[in-house]
Amino acid sequence: MISEKMKNSDFHKFFVDELRDLYWAENALLKELPKMQKASTSKELADGFAKHTKETKKHISRLEKVFESLGEKATGKKCEAMAGILKEGKSIIEDTAKDTMTRDAGLVLAAQKVEHYEIATYGTLKVFASHMGHKEAERLLAETLDNEKATNARLTGLAERFINKEAVTE
Ligand SMILES: [Fe+2]
Ligand SMILES: [Fe+2]
Repeated sequence: MISEKMKNSDFHKFFVDELRDLYWAENALLKELPKMQKASTSKELADGFAKHTKETKKHISRLEKVFESLGEKATGKKCEAMAGILKEGKSIIEDTAKDTMTRDAGLVLAAQKVEHYEIATYGTLKVFASHMGHKEAERLLAETLDNEKATNARLTGLAERFINKEAVTE
């Protein structure tokens, strides 16, 4: 149970506000991932985006559970940072040619910027939750944090295994 005193504290309000920002960011990302999948040259990268689309749906429902655990409504608030990162992703697609590995190298860059932003946000909000004693929120945020880190590592793996090498020689 969250006490009235906690609910009215500036830190708690700030935490909830940042959760709304993150909720908006995940929903915005969910719309872009299928476009990144379609723009991919290699099947491996396209499959990676398909996988992360499914995972992102889970991130969204986990955030809904976080709001629920705090007795708050799940609503989003525009995240200017994610909006900017996604806009940059679009221009990376425009700036690279279809069916090239340079396109895939660019998509990995765009996707890793997204993952790093998510890792920073989930990491910090998890620690906030821990310090406020919001155990359920902490557990849910940690779960998604682990998945974002794994996604980032998978992207590095694809880039190092073949994408960058093939981009250099095309
Ligand atoms: Fe996510
Ligand atoms: Fe992610």
